[in-house]
Amino acid sequence: MAKTDNNSATQLKKATSWTTLHLTLFTLLGALTAIVLTPYALSSPGHPAASYAPGNSTLDTLANPKIKIISFDPFIAHISDFVSKDEREYLLKLGNPLLKKSIIKNDDGSEVISEARTSSTAFLPEEDPVVLSIAQRAADFQGYLSPGDIDVQITSYNPGQQYKHHYDWYTPPRTRNRVSTFFAILKSTCENCGTEFPFINRTERAQFDGRWCDVIDCEKELLTTKNVEGSALFWLNLDGNGEGRIDMLHAGLPAVNGDKIGLNVWTDIDLQEMKRRGLFGGQSRHYFKPTKEFLESHGLMKEG
Ligand SMILES: *[C@@H]1O[C@H](CO)[C@@H](O)[C@H](O)[C@H]1NC(C)=O
Ligand SMILES: *[C@@H]1O[C@H](CO)[C@@H](O)[C@H](O)[C@H]1NC(C)=O
Repeated sequence: MAKTDNNSATQLKKATSWTTLHLTLFTLLGALTAIVLTPYALSSPGHPAASYAPGNSTLDTLANPKIKIISFDPFIAHISDFVSKDEREYLLKLGNPLLKKSIIKNDDGSEVISEARTSSTAFLPEEDPVVLSIAQRAADFQGYLSPGDIDVQITSYNPGQQYKHHYDWYTPPRTRNRVSTFFAILKSTCENCGTEFPFINRTERAQFDGRWCDVIDCEKELLTTKNVEGSALFWLNLDGNGEGRIDMLHAGLPAVNGDKIGLNVWTDIDLQEMKRRGLFGGQSRHYFKPTKEFLESHGLMKEG
């Protein structure tokens, strides 16, 4: 019996290696055919590319998605033109008289003037039409969340002021927490005063494309953003279980030889609501264990 099993296993192995060989040959042949035939196909009169020449085309090729992902996991993205020029001027006028020395909340809810955060801040009135439209934009960006869950705060760094390494999420227990942050630049005249993420290594990302160096500081190993007026950095603070991510530690570097005024746009959401809205892949990700029958009936069973 055992011998038969061994034999069939050997046969299976043979069959598998034959199949692999065939597959490899077919793939190579296919690739060669594609390489040889593609130029002909593209230049044939029926192919759309035949009427397309750079600089001489009636095709509208100006589609310009403006989000660049810095890191898939943890999720960090650069969004250009998040706050328009007119909105920036408006928000600076609105926010300036409201600014107060930054306070931080202790875990018990009490507030203290912060040693670690020497900047000045102010939450902006949520009924203001421009603030509301920023909140709506932030909510829509995240897949039509509720603008009521978005807090908009202006933050101003004078020369030398900074916000040392910290997290945007609150420590538990709490039923709401800040699932995400946008940090938008309204105005920046300081040098080397971006946002630093000490647990994220930017080296590999920028190594492959120098365009990154417009928005991140390529001189540094640790991810450090450059301040681009109107641009926002977006990142997730919580994981799918609503726990604060340790790798999202960050700092607002000291404003050197100038000022920096930014906009914090936080999504402070009920953690149950976060689950109900399926922000991290919904129920199936955590609770759904598909049966063999389910996989088969959906054509999801791997062959062999
Ligand atoms: C430019 O486009 C026109 C119209 O589609 C076409 O007739 C012409 O040959 C094109 N010229 C080049 C250099 O591709
Ligand atoms: C960052 O990544 C580069 C390239 O993989 C590596 O050489 C370097 O040691 C890393 N730096 C840190 C601080 O992890």
